Amino acid sequence: MLKGRHLIEPSEFSIDELEEIFGLADSIIQKPEDYSEICKNKLLASLFYEPSTRTKFSFDAAMLRLGGEVIGFSDPNTSSVAKGETLKDTIITISNYVDIVVVRHPQEGTAKLMAKYALVPVINAGDGGHQHPTQTLTDLLTIRHYKKSLNNHCIAVCGDLKFGRTIHSLVKAMHRYQDVKFIFISPEELKIPRYIKDLLEPGSYFETTNLDKVIGKADILYMSRVQRERFVSEYEYLRLKDYFILTPEKMLRAKDDMIVMHPLPRVNEIAEEVDSDKRAVYFHQAKFGMYVRMALIVKLLGLE
Ligand code: NCD
Repeated sequence: MLKGRHLIEPSEFSIDELEEIFGLADSIIQKPEDYSEICKNKLLASLFYEPSTRTKFSFDAAMLRLGGEVIGFSDPNTSSVAKGETLKDTIITISNYVDIVVVRHPQEGTAKLMAKYALVPVINAGDGGHQHPTQTLTDLLTIRHYKKSLNNHCIAVCGDLKFGRTIHSLVKAMHRYQDVKFIFISPEELKIPRYIKDLLEPGSYFETTNLDKVIGKADILYMSRVQRERFVSEYEYLRLKDYFILTPEKMLRAKDDMIVMHPLPRVNEIAEEVDSDKRAVYFHQAKFGMYVRMALIVKLLGLE
């Protein structure tokens, strides 16, 4: 039962519950007109304490396409936060006005804290370098579409595995499926955190700094940008930002049916020439993000 639940990290939902959301997303994709009024008279609060384009827009578009309405801010300086209000007071107040809340915040654990005090469902739209569960729903729906199943894959994740919250959420969600192997490709300085590796079976992952060497093994290549905003030193960021660049030459070594994913925004880590490769699915992935958020909102509001 998903009605009234929060979504703070993807592993809070069982595989069956995730499948319920994906099933509804499939139905919405097939017949969006059947859902265009389902959220009539419902209000979503969108609290973005950190910049966002696709996550905010895809939530807004999702709610509007369901016939609901959206209020909120994308610049905390325009809200009472600027007057020194605590997150606890903000969420108690706002959840009196709306039916569901989406929050993005630079500090890890914020969504969880807000969920504790909220009177309505809270969705974590990214908390610092920690988790980004709705990106993971997007990613799983994309994999399920292109690969027909979430089992039996070798997933290579490449880039900033230390600060990349989409990576942390994806690995936490995918390791629960059968026969999933991970290849973690990153510079030494940006390796995947220990607490994520500790969740995995010892033989189920491999770490490397060399994309060329392993690209041929991957069924899915998940690229990510170096997370500039999480670096203390700009010099360190500049040193690492172009460590990996996926080019058409590199793609020659990849399987014919491999897919390339990216949560976006892309900075420099995928050359634009790769966009026309049929294996590059990242822009379609962004579209799945809106549909899966539509399904999530309907489920948490118990409207189906
Ligand atoms: C991601 C994020 O915010 O963590 N973006 C997104 O939501 N699609 C990835 C990123 O910013 O690199």
